[in-house]
Amino acid sequence: METVELRVGFVGAGRMAGGLVRGLLRAGKVPASSILASAPSDKNLDAWRELGCWTTHCNLEVLQESTLVILATKPHVLPGVLQEIRPAVGPHHIVVSLVAGVTLQTLQRLLPSGTKVLRIMPNLPCVVRAGAMVFARGSDAGDEEAALLKNLLSSCGLCEEVPESYINIHTGLSGSGVAYVYLFAEALAEGAVKMGMPSGLASRIAAQTLLGAAKMMLETGEHPAKLRGEVCTPGGTTIHGLHQLEKGALRATVMNAVEAATNRARSMAEDKEQGWGEDLPSPAEQEG
Ligand SMILES: NC(=O)c1ccc[n+]([C@@H]2O[C@H](COP(=O)([O-])OP(=O)(O)OC[C@H]3O[C@@H](n4cnc5c(N)ncnc54)[C@H](OP(=O)(O)O)[C@@H]3O)[C@@H](O)[C@H]2O)c1
Repeated sequence: METVELRVGFVGAGRMAGGLVRGLLRAGKVPASSILASAPSDKNLDAWRELGCWTTHCNLEVLQESTLVILATKPHVLPGVLQEIRPAVGPHHIVVSLVAGVTLQTLQRLLPSGTKVLRIMPNLPCVVRAGAMVFARGSDAGDEEAALLKNLLSSCGLCEEVPESYINIHTGLSGSGVAYVYLFAEALAEGAVKMGMPSGLASRIAAQTLLGAAKMMLETGEHPAKLRGEVCTPGGTTIHGLHQLEKGALRATVMNAVEAATNRARSMAEDKEQGWGEDLPSPAEQEG
């Protein structure tokens, strides 16, 4: 197994950072002794210590001790965190933000000029190493940094580099999409319960059905419409079921859901950008 000689720091140690670190550790990509996380309280840090990682309450210590620094706070906290850490950010750092709605342009504006910045958008199944992540690079991050990030994060699931404009679409498709799939799984299982199957068994079978269908899509590379056609015997059970889904406009409803969540992600990002423009001067403005 490949081990990357790298010191990885997390500023913010909550659910998403915890999910990523578990993926990294399970894959053996980075030893726990090379990982340092900071947070104001011990609420989440206790779990990091149990994993064997170093922890601190001082964000600057993460910058001092790490090369790859992952910003993983809630968005409203990030302006203060950037203001605090930017004097310690140097050319050897690779700064990766997973904070929703904060653009590369803003990150670059608020960090020293020339900082290698990348932005990733994970989803929660990273915890079980079945995440779907996209990332985009800032103007000073090169192929080496992109390859390093992709290599590391692939241990937590699918990881693709994309233009930054796809990140909000990814939120609508996959970040929020996880919840749509849970709703569909619940409905599948409840249908079985209605027909007389016990609930626990129905839930397990619904989950395995989603997993199997997803694996078929990934492993065959086939369009889902083709795979769906293969399940449909003329006059059989599946086409009768699919007819009901079409009558309920499942396809249009799900497309609407992706569109609505993407638009919401875009407008939240715009609100943040506007607020931050006023709140926080760029380093150049501060120096001036
Ligand atoms: N959860 C998701 O599905 C998901 C998906 C994609 C992206 N994201 C992004 O991930 C980020 C974190 O989300 P989350 O769900 O992991 O949130 P969370 O569980 O609330 O974690 C936030 C972490 O930030 C820490 N923190 C608060 N103030 C800080 C400060 N001043 N300096 C350093 N750390 C500070 C918190 O400390 P304590 O431990 O002391 O509370 C906590 O460890 C968000 O920006 C979100 O947009 C989340």
